[in-house]
Amino acid sequence: MTAAPVLPAPAPAPAPAPAPATPARHSTARRPEPPVRRAGAAGIAVALALHPELWEPLVRYREESRWTSLLDPARAAAVLDPSQHEELAGAQVWLLSWLPGQGTPLHDHGRSAGAFAVAAGTLTERVVTRSPGPQLVTTDLTTGRVRWFGPRHVHQVRNDGAEPAVSIHVYTPPLRSMNTYRVEPTGLVRTGTERAGVDW
Ligand SMILES: [Fe+2]
Repeated sequence: MTAAPVLPAPAPAPAPAPAPATPARHSTARRPEPPVRRAGAAGIAVALALHPELWEPLVRYREESRWTSLLDPARAAAVLDPSQHEELAGAQVWLLSWLPGQGTPLHDHGRSAGAFAVAAGTLTERVVTRSPGPQLVTTDLTTGRVRWFGPRHVHQVRNDGAEPAVSIHVYTPPLRSMNTYRVEPTGLVRTGTERAGVDW
C-alpha cells in the first residue's frame, strides 16, 4: 500500500479589505423634543397656596356657611411663572375659607376636572370607593397638601379641625355646577344640583 500523497495545506483566505472609511456625517435632522409636562391644575393650586401675600388679604370667614370667592386670574398670574402654568389661561380659581365644622355635601364638579390645595389649616376629604360596595375613605389634608381630580370624582370636604382653614381650587373648564349625592348600600344617589357662584 502506498502512502497517500500529502497535499499542501490550502493557503489562508486573504483577510477582507477594510471598508473604506466613510466621512462622518453630521445629521441636520432635529431630535424630537421631550414632551412638555406642565404643572397642571395641581401645580397652579400649590403654587398659589405658597403665596399667602396673594390670598391672605382677600380671605373672609363667614359663620353661617363656608366663604367662597373667585380669584382674579390676573392676580394669580402675577405670582406664577407663566412658562410653567399655561393652563391658568383656561382655568378658574376659587378661594375658599372653612371655619371649624363647615363643609360640603358629597358632590361632583359637573364636567370640570381640577385640583385643590390646602393653604392654611387642615381639611378632611371623604372619597367614595366602589369596592366591594360604596364606602367612604377619609384623608386628612394638612397645609400644603394637594388633591387633583377628574370630572367623575365625587368627594366631601370638611374642616373637622379646631382652626380655620383656607384652600385654593383650580378648575378646567370653569366650574358651572356640582351635583350632590348621598351614599346608599346600592351606590350613590343624586340629591340635587348646586350652581357655582349662585348657590354657594
Ligand atoms: Fe369639590
